[in-house]
Amino acid sequence: MPTPQLIDPFRRKVSYLRVSVTDRCDFRCYYCMAEEMTFLPKKELLTLEELDRMCSTFIDMGVTKLRITGGEPLVRKGIMTFFQSMSRHLKSDALKELTLTTNGSQLSRFAEPLAQCGVKRVNVSLDTLQPAKFAKITKRGDFGKVMAGLAAADKAGLKVKINAVALKGVNDDELHPMVEWCGQRGYDLTWIEVMPMGDMGEVDRLSQYWPLSDVKKQLAARWTLEDIPLNTGGPATYKRVKETGGRVGFITPLTHNFCESCNRVRLTCTGQLYMCLGQEDVADLRAAMRNHEGNEALIAEIKAAIARKPKGHDFDYSRRVIEGEMSRHMNHTGG
Ligand code: GTP
Ligand code: 5AD
Ligand code: SF4
Repeated sequence: MPTPQLIDPFRRKVSYLRVSVTDRCDFRCYYCMAEEMTFLPKKELLTLEELDRMCSTFIDMGVTKLRITGGEPLVRKGIMTFFQSMSRHLKSDALKELTLTTNGSQLSRFAEPLAQCGVKRVNVSLDTLQPAKFAKITKRGDFGKVMAGLAAADKAGLKVKINAVALKGVNDDELHPMVEWCGQRGYDLTWIEVMPMGDMGEVDRLSQYWPLSDVKKQLAARWTLEDIPLNTGGPATYKRVKETGGRVGFITPLTHNFCESCNRVRLTCTGQLYMCLGQEDVADLRAAMRNHEGNEALIAEIKAAIARKPKGHDFDYSRRVIEGEMSRHMNHTGG
């Protein structure tokens, strides 16, 4: 059993590593990416072997939850080899959970092999149930493909959580239909407040910001919401919807800061470690790994990075201006 070594200055134990394995994506959700993105040249990326070495080192240091993100993680070539090799850490019991966040477009192909690697549940980003709106939000997403992907996940026995970014004037009319739809299928549903990451082009983020305090009020007017103690190790708080039996989660970086219980750090596909989604500070783990045969330098760099994990993000819209905005897009760090 690994000894937890990753304790930050605020006494938070870092046990959750999110790894973005590619910055590329087959969609262009407008709140996440610009339409014309310049992606990293392939030679900049960590190889699958390097990703393995990086993640295994974190697991040795006490990480028990590994979430693979992107971009879209399933568009990275050979990614199943990586999942397969990570599954050894589930078998040894060092890792409690191996999972991913995906847009669902490739799940028809990959749901079964993922389940075989020990993945038990997947988070699928889906902001609408209307195909035309879906096409508008994702710019190049195919709604039918995502539905087929979800069916494949069901068939493979994967538990599904739907992530919906709450967008006023975009999907606020679908609050109840989505609760119902997810409830019928046994999917958890999590609403996320839109964060100021990267430029949204001509769309004004503030005017689309839909505080989840309001979402909760609207839900409570229609459904019976019961408190439940569920804690997935992620930032959401959950309620049970009595009528559907389903769970609805709320991720509230704007209306309620959950940073005091933060347990996670993020590794980009080039081996940069972000200690907070909402801060610029970054540690170059790739150099520490590539320039040394053994892992001592990498371990030292990871410890030094955790020792400067900031208290939290500074996202704030409360003065009707965007504060704490990040210039990097969400696909860079994988959310
Ligand atoms: P579970 O394991 O199901 O709890 O998943 P998760 O919520 O940890 O992961 P997921 O990839 O589904 O993340 C959902 C949303 O939460 C994404 O939009 C993330 O950007 C956001 N999120 C996750 N962690 C943080 C965090 O530390 N700070 C902020 N501001 N947002 C976060
Ligand atoms: N604010 C909130 N959530 C976002 N995501 C992408 N960009 C943003 C943003 N600006 C979400 C995606 C996905 C998760 C990884 O991050 O919808 O569910
Ligand atoms: Fe791709 Fe996810 Fe970003 Fe949409 S939110 S563009 S699916 S990485």
